[in-house]
Amino acid sequence: MNISEQEQDIVIVGGGISGLATALALAAAGVGIIMQPNGWRALDQLGVAAKPRQTCTEIPSKGELRCLKRMELMKALAEELPVESVYLRCRVFSILLDPLTSNPLLQLHNGTLIKSNIVIGCDGVNSIIAKFVGVNSPKLFSRCATRGFRYYEGGHSFGDKFHFYSSNDVTLGQLPVTDKLVYWFLTRVLTSQAYITKASLEAIKGFPEEIVQLVKNTEPNVLYLTELQYRAPWDLVCTKFRKGTMVVAGDAMHAMCPFISQGGGASLEDAVVLARCLSEKIKQTAEGGGKRLVEKALDEYVRVRRMRAFWLSLQTYFIGLAQDNMSNVKKALGIAGLILVFGDQTSHTDYDCGRL
Ligand SMILES: Cc1cc2nc3c(=O)[nH]c(=O)nc-3n(C[C@H](O)[C@H](O)[C@H](O)COP(=O)(O)OP(=O)(O)OC[C@H]3O[C@@H](n4cnc5c(N)ncnc54)[C@H](O)[C@@H]3O)c2cc1C
Ligand SMILES: *[C@@H]1O[C@H](CO)[C@@H](O)[C@H](O)[C@H]1NC(C)=O
Ligand SMILES: *[C@@H]1O[C@H](CO)[C@@H](O)[C@H](O)[C@H]1NC(C)=O
Repeated sequence: MNISEQEQDIVIVGGGISGLATALALAAAGVGIIMQPNGWRALDQLGVAAKPRQTCTEIPSKGELRCLKRMELMKALAEELPVESVYLRCRVFSILLDPLTSNPLLQLHNGTLIKSNIVIGCDGVNSIIAKFVGVNSPKLFSRCATRGFRYYEGGHSFGDKFHFYSSNDVTLGQLPVTDKLVYWFLTRVLTSQAYITKASLEAIKGFPEEIVQLVKNTEPNVLYLTELQYRAPWDLVCTKFRKGTMVVAGDAMHAMCPFISQGGGASLEDAVVLARCLSEKIKQTAEGGGKRLVEKALDEYVRVRRMRAFWLSLQTYFIGLAQDNMSNVKKALGIAGLILVFGDQTSHTDYDCGRL
């Protein structure tokens, strides 16, 4: 194999929400994403909120709440990046440390080696950068999520509200993207049932007829089934998210179950905080501070994000427990946790990640 080498200042591995692999992520781009006020604040700081805002209806709520197509978000993010800064269809295969400088060396699947001063792992829940940095493997949740879109040529009649339905062991959320497009998601126990529509319909027996029809009439090609993986909240407290000048962000740092729809919003906050910490220190580096300053900047970022991610993931963890229909003890613990610790269950949307 032809070994080629490249040198970069900063390499960002992975581009989901961060928009670096729009084309690669087509499957995930099909689904919707709920973005809450904290997420819109981060998008405003990144200067990319205007276009995605135009693609979706605002849902009356305490703050800015909208559901948009993931693709629209990724497009908006990717459009702002210089074309030559994005490598599509490129996977990091392994990571090494340069024996001389201890700078990261990334090996791509095509054999190319990239030397970089800083590496930011945004490569999702099964991140290889996270593994290298020393983050524990994610855990598999006992439920799975199904997501789907339904388009109504003549407009739908669901209105502009976020609706929730739940039974003993199933939760379904439904909300509009526009007045013609509806997004819905469902969490249920993971079964071996191969047909997503059939399994979903079985799970929602007894739900209102309009919801049953919505699920029944969703085209299979816009229907996605996902296993849910998460990092335990207590893992977030003590994990070292940095090794040298390598650090993680997004799901690579804090994958959580989607019950409060905050994974994507929190990833955008990461981006703002990380960029702010780095730019403050990089200014000083120019005056000769080097690696140590970068590490300090990354530590500051980790310090700020650790506690935010901890509270979000604790809340989703309690919600997960509260949904447990097999153990009354777990269920009680989850409900008690929510009441005692999260009196106001929407206060996570008030968070402001600050300016860039
Ligand atoms: C069912 C479900 C519903 C959700 N709903 C919402 C919601 O409504 N609102 C919300 O805010 N969040 C939601 N989330 C969470 C949200 O999807 C994630 O938090 C978000 O996508 C994280 O973005 P990311 O960029 O960190 O990771 P990802 O979006 O997973 O992107 C990671 C990228 O890295 C690439 N990659 C992986 N490994 C490598 C490698 N070795 N080399 C190069 N590239 C690599 C992948 O191909 C991918 O493109 C939901 C999650 C699930 C599972
Ligand atoms: C490997 O992929 C990278 C990134 O896409 C590219 O820049 C490089 O030229 C490729 N190397 C080879 C040997 O094809
Ligand atoms: C819990 O959910 C599973 C899967 O839907 C179901 O088979 C089981 O009967 C439920 N258990 C209780 C105690 O409700």
